[in-house]
Amino acid sequence: MDVGIKNCVDLHCHLLPGVDDGCQALEESLECLRQWRRSGYVGSVCTPHMGVDVFPDNVPANVAEWTAELQAAIDEAGIDYYLWPGGELRLGEDITAWMREWGVPTIGPSRWVLVDYFGRRWPDFCDRGIDYLLDRGYDVLLAHPERLGLAERDWQATMEILAARGVRFQGNLNSIAGGEGAVAQDRAVRWLHEDRYYVLASDTHGLDSVPGRQAGLKAAIHQVGAEHIAELVSTRPREIVGAASP
Ligand SMILES: [Fe+2]
Repeated sequence: MDVGIKNCVDLHCHLLPGVDDGCQALEESLECLRQWRRSGYVGSVCTPHMGVDVFPDNVPANVAEWTAELQAAIDEAGIDYYLWPGGELRLGEDITAWMREWGVPTIGPSRWVLVDYFGRRWPDFCDRGIDYLLDRGYDVLLAHPERLGLAERDWQATMEILAARGVRFQGNLNSIAGGEGAVAQDRAVRWLHEDRYYVLASDTHGLDSVPGRQAGLKAAIHQVGAEHIAELVSTRPREIVGAASP
């Protein structure tokens, strides 16, 4: 599905095969990125879940190695597509100890770090994890804030505080299409119009998840126009990973 935006880079996806709840086999990973390529994407940052007990092997050094392996398979398959290593770091109680032990999973060679959290309230340890990063000069990108379980007023107040501290926000394409429920869709569409997102990303979790994400890209363009969306899926993501200009 070609939406007319070129040179997009996806900052959040679970493309690495068999390392989390995303793609499970190499062929699935290749087919996912073939589909994104047809929608104008030229590369993805591989961001498997990190700091989550069920995926203890997902640490920066391993992800760098697995990303290089998938890149080699992409090259061998003759697909023109580029990968960067990254991670989706869960803000948990032990997150600062985790980073001290395993290192900070940046988005490619940048100083940006993708973090996520799910919950009905915003606990202090989330702020401590974010402070740890900000104090060390990293830029914090909060994944899919629209999906947080906080009640609306609490959510708005928490997002204002985070924004004031310099945290930037990554919206999920699937939320805009309605795939994450009505609350997430309302928030995401409102934020698109208010220009609150720094970037949008697919958060692809395997082949079945791609059509909903691509519908979200189309819906996003329908909401605010291709020029605005190109900024969020192409210009800024490319700046973050340091991709050369087309
Ligand atoms: Fe994710």
